Amino acid sequence: MWKSLTAIALFAVPSLQSAVGKRFAPLKFSKNGKFQISILEDLHLGENAWDSWGPQQDVNTVTVINEVLNAESPDLVVLNGDLITGENAFLENSTVYIDKIVGPLVDRGLTWASTYGNHDSQYNLSRSAMLAREHQWPNSRTQQMVSGREAGVTNYYLPVYGSKNADTNGAPAMLLWFFDSRGGYYYQELDSAGNQVAQPNWVDVSVVDWFKATNADLVKKYCKHIPSLVFVHIPTNASQAIQTQLGVNAHKEPGINDDYVLAQQGEGWCADGSNDSSYVYGGQDVAFMKALVDTPGVIGVFSGHDHGDTWCYKWDTLIPGMSVKGNGINLCFGQHTGYGGYGSWIRGSRQVLVTESKLKDMEIDTWIRLESGDIVGSVSLNSTYGEDIYPSTPDTRT
Ligand SMILES: *[C@@H]1O[C@H](CO)[C@@H](O)[C@H](O)[C@H]1NC(C)=O
Ligand SMILES: *[C@@H]1O[C@H](CO)[C@@H](O)[C@H](O)[C@H]1NC(C)=O
Ligand SMILES: *[C@@H]1O[C@H](CO)[C@@H](O)[C@H](O)[C@H]1NC(C)=O
Ligand SMILES: *[C@@H]1O[C@H](CO)[C@@H](O)[C@H](O)[C@H]1NC(C)=O
Ligand SMILES: *[C@@H]1O[C@H](CO)[C@@H](O)[C@H](O)[C@H]1NC(C)=O
Repeated sequence: MWKSLTAIALFAVPSLQSAVGKRFAPLKFSKNGKFQISILEDLHLGENAWDSWGPQQDVNTVTVINEVLNAESPDLVVLNGDLITGENAFLENSTVYIDKIVGPLVDRGLTWASTYGNHDSQYNLSRSAMLAREHQWPNSRTQQMVSGREAGVTNYYLPVYGSKNADTNGAPAMLLWFFDSRGGYYYQELDSAGNQVAQPNWVDVSVVDWFKATNADLVKKYCKHIPSLVFVHIPTNASQAIQTQLGVNAHKEPGINDDYVLAQQGEGWCADGSNDSSYVYGGQDVAFMKALVDTPGVIGVFSGHDHGDTWCYKWDTLIPGMSVKGNGINLCFGQHTGYGGYGSWIRGSRQVLVTESKLKDMEIDTWIRLESGDIVGSVSLNSTYGEDIYPSTPDTRT
């Protein structure tokens, strides 16, 4: 265990030199007008370090990351939450698991951007410490643009510049927004009864306000709405409403749909801020959903959290009971990447391919690369997504 960590630390040193400045070098579409993102989610490293199966599981997860990156050549990797299973963490080394996750990325000179999940905040694991650990590598583009206890940590945006942009003074071709849906428990806090203190599990309203104001500034600065993608660990209630009230079609929205009913932001919390019942939902993500559909240019929202759901759905209606109406925004799950966390669905990683030619029409392509090397769920999120017929995705287990 310590040996392999030392090895990672040693090989990180030369890579660190060559990667200096990476965080600040702007993201750009390639010369042929493409920008590909590989989403790694629900990695859940660090389970049961005291048993042999926990560390072995981490080895298997790193193998999945290597297999995906051998098959795909992303321009950016997104770590979309639950990097570590913090419930099992030891105070003295709870963030070292970051090193294992990013090893294959640093090795390939790739840069990454993270959102943190509900398992990334626990009594012995802090989001801020995770961010500090990430920043040991200049390859990490993860940031904290909103301060305050209620905001969480991973709220920020990254501009991606067009292939023809000679410099970065002009408008970005695309924006990537990252939101922190929080959850779990506050670091090293106990209430007067000695219980751990739960952290709310939705995107806070202070972050929604920051998003609206920051986007409005960008619209004013560049005189246009810039196409954008959104990453957030926990999906919103819209995903659950789609699943339970509209239904996910295996040929029109190909993907596994086994987490039924799926878990969403605000789950377990009442509207009054109490959290007595684990199945209550207090509607705290309504402001976030509204901001997403009110922002022209948002093409897709990518979430993890529900390991047994891997579909994309074009949300373009007012679903009975909801106050927010979909505007055609695509709500996507990825694929469980880690061997930690619940479920034995085959591991893999959602790929998002943005091409400058299709971006003009607000269209993107996406598929899931599995650890077996196979590709499933390859679809175009274009104007006829939801009507086009695709092969269904087999419900494969490992
Ligand atoms: C973290 O510390 C625990 C307890 O000392 C140990 O069992 C575990 O192997 C350590 N993890 C790593 C990755 O070094
Ligand atoms: C936190 O870490 C300490 C030190 O390793 C350990 O003794 C304790 O059991 C951990 N607590 C929790 C709640 O995981
Ligand atoms: C609700 O909050 C209390 C106090 O923070 C915490 O002990 C409990 O685990 C929480 N329950 C859930 C379901 O989050
Ligand atoms: C949340 O979704 C459920 C369906 O799963 C729906 O009945 C309810 O009205 C929705 N609530 C809000 C506030 O969006
Ligand atoms: C959307 O993409 C699918 C799959 O590539 C294709 O069959 C369909 O014709 C496309 N729709 C439009 C409007 O281009």
